[in-house]
Amino acid sequence: MTPSAVQTILIVDDEIQNRELFENLLRLQGYGTLTAANGEEALKAIAEHSPDLILLDIMMPGIDGYELAVVLKADSVTSNIPIIMVSAHIDCKARLGALNAGAEEFLSKPVDPTELWLRVRNLLRLKTFSELQKQAHARLQERTAQLEASNQELQAFAYSVSHDLRTPLSSIAGFSNLLQREIDKNSGTERAMHYLSRINTGARQMSASIDALLLLTQVSRTDICPQRVDLSAMAQVVLDGYLEREPDRLVRIDIEPDLLVQGDPNLLGQLLDNLLGNAWKFSSQQAQVHVIFSSATHADGKTVYAIKDNGSGFDMAYSDKLFAPFERLHSVSEFPGTGIGLATVHRIVARHGGKVWAESAPGCGATFYFTLGV
Ligand SMILES: Nc1ncnc2c1ncn2[C@@H]1O[C@H](COP(=O)(O)OP(=O)(O)OP(=O)(O)O)[C@@H](O)[C@H]1O
Ligand SMILES: [Mg+2]
Repeated sequence: MTPSAVQTILIVDDEIQNRELFENLLRLQGYGTLTAANGEEALKAIAEHSPDLILLDIMMPGIDGYELAVVLKADSVTSNIPIIMVSAHIDCKARLGALNAGAEEFLSKPVDPTELWLRVRNLLRLKTFSELQKQAHARLQERTAQLEASNQELQAFAYSVSHDLRTPLSSIAGFSNLLQREIDKNSGTERAMHYLSRINTGARQMSASIDALLLLTQVSRTDICPQRVDLSAMAQVVLDGYLEREPDRLVRIDIEPDLLVQGDPNLLGQLLDNLLGNAWKFSSQQAQVHVIFSSATHADGKTVYAIKDNGSGFDMAYSDKLFAPFERLHSVSEFPGTGIGLATVHRIVARHGGKVWAESAPGCGATFYFTLGV
């Protein structure tokens, strides 16, 4: 930054000749100047004009330069004003005293004008830079707070919408059941039965979507309670549940033992349930299912977990849609589902500071990878 008259330097020195000399030198470079003949006057000038830099004599009657520097650096309002200490005897002790009091620079009298200009210029540049940084940080904090607030509002909105939809939906389901009975009793037409079954299917789908949406919003709303979690044991329990429900399926399961992580057991349970549930569902058309849950340590030291299946797979051209709510790459008639599972997985992984991604090809199975930052 080029020196500008807007930047004001306070010269504190008990000798009038010194004050005049510094004033003339600094004005030559376009700086504005203020002067004070002692510590008390300096404090007053600082409070009134908040200068950009202080040129401070060490030896003064009353409050000396060291004391003044200590006072200024201890006050959050003045601590960012750079101080150059000036003295006739800048020996080692005086230098240490100046640094210890918090001064950024020191100069010995008689002062070399070029050195003075360069030191003043550099310190003012640093000050400007740190002020810009502070402003950027404040703006960032403000923006983050705004985003957090609107995110919370959105979540509350999604929650109340899905919650409020339940009541009219259960009345549709309840009354269509009653209507079904009426039609059965009065032997209604086939067309009437068909329409009614369409209404029932629609209501069931909507109810499943609402439940899934509620689950998704809960993932963001609940507090994380990190604990030691055995993912291997958890995965085994999830898959045992699937096997119990469909005992006739030929399934080979390979789970790497002792996959121990720090995380929220409840959320990690949902994560495995969704990923293993997908592996199970999208391989249902295979004669022999093979699901593998394993881990690998990458070059950056991060552990990457992988859940691999030999199911229908998907086209990677659409992989950017995978983790968005209600996006599906297969039709409901082929594989049932609401399309909220991977959106839930994405949020759970993000809440643990990790990432999730997938690799697949149609007909070649799919592998879902994830990391956990905690
Ligand atoms: N293991 C997989 N193999 C093939 N396709 C997959 C696999 N996992 C996810 N997909 C594709 O990604 C889509 C989104 O998955 P997601 O889990 O969000 O939804 P879903 O399983 O269809 O429904 P939900 O999980 O809500 O019951 C799926 O519909 C499917 O097209
Ligand atoms: Mg799913």
